[in-house]
Amino acid sequence: MNRIRLAALGGIAAIALGAGVAAFAAAPGYNPIVTRQSGQLLVLGSFVGIRQALLHKLPVKPFAEPALAMSRWFAQYPTLFPPGSDKGDNTKALPAIWTHFAAFRKDADNASAAAGKLAMLAKAGNTAGFAAQVKVLGGTCLSCHKEFRAK
Ligand code: HEC
Repeated sequence: MNRIRLAALGGIAAIALGAGVAAFAAAPGYNPIVTRQSGQLLVLGSFVGIRQALLHKLPVKPFAEPALAMSRWFAQYPTLFPPGSDKGDNTKALPAIWTHFAAFRKDADNASAAAGKLAMLAKAGNTAGFAAQVKVLGGTCLSCHKEFRAK
């Protein structure tokens, strides 16, 4: 390895350390809009499944993992709104996301926390608590959509 390459690697390491967080380059073809929309459709699928289960009085335990996935998804969700992803692919994301990003992140964190609690209730097989928490989670969907998603 020659000196120039070593120096270049050192520079990259220094930048990575300076940033203090793992930075991943986007793979070719990465589309944050399609990614976030697809994720929301999967969230909807889990949500519909949960409501059907409650309607038909099915066990809630199998929803522990989907609820955990929703919790993790919403914790990551704001990262799928990089600057410049406000247009294209029929996005319904409103400009308020970028002008009020802290509030948007707060809504995502609320949804993440609500889904996390739902996962714990599912794991415990607490059907009544689970049913009540589904409403709390549904409320977090609505409040974010009201502020940040176009009709
Ligand atoms: C932090 C804000 C936020 C939360 C919380 C949230 N959403 Fe969304 N959702 C959005 C935004 C913004 C869009 C539009 C994304 C786009 O089009 O780029 C969206 C889009 C969607 C879509 C449409 C996807 C498509 O086809 O384009 C569905 C379905 C959806 N959300 C379901 C849900 C459900 C169900 C919940 C709760 C369990 C939820 N969302 C919670 C912000 C949120």
